Amino acid sequence: MKINLPFMISAILAVALVALAFTIFQISGERERLNNELEERNSLIARELNEIIIATPEVENSKSLIKFSDSLSHYSNFIGMALLTKGKQIFTFNEKIKPFLRFSNDYIEQSIIADSAFGKFIKIGKEEIYQYIKPVKKDRVPDSAMIIYFDAGYIDKILKSILLKNFFRWFIQVFLMLAATVLLIRWGIFKPINSIVNWLRAVRGGNTELLEEKSKIGFLEPLHREIRNIAQDMQEARAVAEEEARLRTMGEAIWTQDRLREEVRKLLPDKTLIVVSNREPYMHIHEGREIKCIVPASGMVTAMEPVLKACGGLWIASGSGDADFETVDKDGKIAVPPGEEKYILKRLRITKEEDEHFYLGFSNEGLWPLCHLTFTRPIFREIDWEYYKKVNQTFADAVLDEIKNLEQPFVLVQDFHFALLPGMIKNARPDVTVAIFWHIPWPNPEAFSICPWQKEILKGMLGSDLIGFHTQYQCNNFLETVNNAIDSRVKWDNFTVKISDRTTLVRSFPISIAFTLKDYDNHKYENTLLPGELLARYNLSAQYMGIGVERIDYTKGIAERFLAIEHFLNNNPEFIGRFTFVQLGAPSRMVIKSYSDTISRVESEAARINQKFKVKDWMPILLLVRHHSHEEIAPFYKAANFCMVTSLHDGMNLVAKEFVASRNNNDGVLILSRFAGASRELKGALKINPYDTVQMSEAIKLALEMPKKTQTHRMQQMRQQIVENNIYLWAARILRTMVSIQS
Ligand code: G6P
Repeated sequence: MKINLPFMISAILAVALVALAFTIFQISGERERLNNELEERNSLIARELNEIIIATPEVENSKSLIKFSDSLSHYSNFIGMALLTKGKQIFTFNEKIKPFLRFSNDYIEQSIIADSAFGKFIKIGKEEIYQYIKPVKKDRVPDSAMIIYFDAGYIDKILKSILLKNFFRWFIQVFLMLAATVLLIRWGIFKPINSIVNWLRAVRGGNTELLEEKSKIGFLEPLHREIRNIAQDMQEARAVAEEEARLRTMGEAIWTQDRLREEVRKLLPDKTLIVVSNREPYMHIHEGREIKCIVPASGMVTAMEPVLKACGGLWIASGSGDADFETVDKDGKIAVPPGEEKYILKRLRITKEEDEHFYLGFSNEGLWPLCHLTFTRPIFREIDWEYYKKVNQTFADAVLDEIKNLEQPFVLVQDFHFALLPGMIKNARPDVTVAIFWHIPWPNPEAFSICPWQKEILKGMLGSDLIGFHTQYQCNNFLETVNNAIDSRVKWDNFTVKISDRTTLVRSFPISIAFTLKDYDNHKYENTLLPGELLARYNLSAQYMGIGVERIDYTKGIAERFLAIEHFLNNNPEFIGRFTFVQLGAPSRMVIKSYSDTISRVESEAARINQKFKVKDWMPILLLVRHHSHEEIAPFYKAANFCMVTSLHDGMNLVAKEFVASRNNNDGVLILSRFAGASRELKGALKINPYDTVQMSEAIKLALEMPKKTQTHRMQQMRQQIVENNIYLWAARILRTMVSIQS
């Protein structure tokens, strides 16, 4: 900021006017004083002179007059004096005055006539002379007067010096005043205003954290506060406008169920999409005398169900519910979802032995721990492998039967249960476009190579035209495994594998959930309970709540997270009685020892920790081991202060995405394992290493104490990521890639 010229000129003029008025006043006063002083001096001299004249007989030759005149010479300005009668001089005391007398004649006459004394300034040449005339009171010299001359030039000199001094004083005053004003304005006004301007500029530039700052300059705090309020209002208005604009643009880009349906109509006209998985999307089970339909706890189901709902088609899966075959037609088919009927579910019967060896044995004791690096040893039994091949063939036959009348159909195989299926289908029907999506991680080549049937598995998978993983890292692991294990040409520039004349594309498609703009933009908070209200249903009282939702599986790191909760309470005892962690755990694969051990460990850790800390009406861990429906889980997601996903290894983990999607008021914190695929996308989560108890316990503290603004910022970022990369986009990308391969 600069101080402008008019301001400076006005200030100088104002001071000049004051100084001038003061000088005029001072000079006129001084002049009057000096004049009076001169007149008084002259009047005294005249009085004394008069007395001498009266007392002197011979005025013309008076020695006493000469003596008196001499005595006046101590006045430095005294010029001289004379005695005159009717214009004629009788006596001149000083020769110097002779030239002056002719200028004084008229005044002398006036004085004599008026019989009164007076003083007068006259200008003679360059000299300023003061003359004082007084009539003489002596009979012997009638009509006479005395005249005294003083040099009055000193008065002008004094006045001039006053003028000069005042001018300098004015100059210094102006200088000091301007300097003081400039300093005052610069340091007292401009600097604070500049600091507000800079602060405002930073806020405008997006540094919203500064809005919380108080003014460093006390007297400006009220102004700062007002500006802060305005800035906050503007910030909010801008955020709303930006959000609206973003939603408008996003609206055109975001995938929805309808958009996917349209896309499928275009991509696969008159074609049926066939999906194959082991786990079915709907399970019918007996509950007393009733038959109940439940959605199994499975990330694969969570992801694929909305796709089938959007595209229609046929989903072939194992019928695993005890009432499953009471609800299907003679072909094992049923239209689902119940009440909405958007696609057909075909259930295949799996025998007890098949379940034991194909599902529990090879899939879950072999491939599952092989692909999840959690240091649980995979078990490979030959009989399991035989059943794995057998069941894959059963499913292949079922698929081939379904597509026998279809030309160039599309088959989308799901997960590790069906590694051999693509090859089996492709061998029988080379015209089918087959893709397999691997929902779990793919380990490094050394880890995978311990599988005695790794070659068969890889070749079976490479029967597909397209193999999908969640991340590029997993694609790379797979390609390296192929490169190491079988005769093939792996091309790293376009991520393909060629065996003879068959080419398979290997691509990453990060899976997601059915989260659309409508859900994203839904800011209704109804049915949202506070943690305390939700916990009260379990006769617990606590102010804060954390949530964990998963199948009880050793890969999920549930016991590890309990240890972190214990550590957290040990270190933060102020949360004892105030914080409860709710673990919703669905029992899973229970007959497998590693799973029954896991559930025992989870239960015993929860019991031990609860025993250690519990007080009346409160315990640190509420472990609810049973199947929970989506509707039952939703209130926990919404009420929790944070959600913990602490997988030791995980392909994607959709619980993390579901929690974020459920937070429609943009708060809450996600604590997420960096070994879950989701951690590559959800940058707003607090990343943890689930093997690091201390780090996890610190993350809990951070989550519970995180300011709302930070929560909102992180949550919005994650919600946006999910809405932009939802399951409809995932399906569209896979189907487009399959179509591009076929054509
Ligand atoms: C993982 C797998 C799914 C499986 C789910 C549940 O998410 O990727 O394919 O369905 O676990 O396991 P389950 O053995 O109960 O099907």
